[in-house]
Amino acid sequence: MARLPKEKPDPARPAARLPDTPALAPSILTADFSHLADAIAAAEAGGAGLFHLDVMDGHFVPNLTIGPLIVEAIDRLTGLPLDVHLMIERPDLYIERFARAGADMISVHQEATPHLHRTVQLIRDCGAAAGVALNPSTPLATLHDILPDLDYVLLMSVDPGFGGQRFIPTVMTKIASLKRHVDDSGARARIEVDGGIGTDNIVAIREHGADILVAGSAVFDGHDPKGRARALVDLLKPARRG
Ligand code: DX5
Ligand code: ZN
Repeated sequence: MARLPKEKPDPARPAARLPDTPALAPSILTADFSHLADAIAAAEAGGAGLFHLDVMDGHFVPNLTIGPLIVEAIDRLTGLPLDVHLMIERPDLYIERFARAGADMISVHQEATPHLHRTVQLIRDCGAAAGVALNPSTPLATLHDILPDLDYVLLMSVDPGFGGQRFIPTVMTKIASLKRHVDDSGARARIEVDGGIGTDNIVAIREHGADILVAGSAVFDGHDPKGRARALVDLLKPARRG
């Protein structure tokens, strides 16, 4: 459960909860919601480092998904960090509610958020780690001035809105460019990549610089989410990269 804002932000507050990296972040978007507890338990048993929760508003993206109630329910099902990806307009109206529900990490889209410094500060005041998400066609340069304030950058490797889409290949060089920029500038931001990740490309995405790798359909399509998560997590281990 993320901490809530006090009267004034506490400059000495402990760092928000982020997973050890590299980490697999199963996205529950394509899980069986009638057996959500089983899906969460299976992915956790398979070695998930956190859970990625996709919040869509039917405006910023053409799909509607979950709100704080479901985040709160998932918070009761797992002790792993909850990574809430807000694909919504006017995110400032909802950030505190998601933090109260248990979000440890909250990302907003650059394309949907005109006053990013204010929004990022709000996330941090709520005790969550702050991230900004970029669509595949949004240039990295848009983050130049806010990168030092971010706990993570979420690079979309599909256009947001749906699970099960194909990884857009040009994002691979974007991951590498961001990794270089983070390292050269001494920024602390981790790099999260989201969309179209599976056993065929997870190693390359990691090697280009991703710290947190989101996978939805690669974990939850089919009958063995534990085995599918385990296969992806094993590919993230250095020994397996040869
Ligand atoms: C897409 C979401 C993703 C999605 C990933 O809008 O942000 O998190 O659920 O699903 P896969 O891994 O199936 O592309
Ligand atoms: Zn997502």
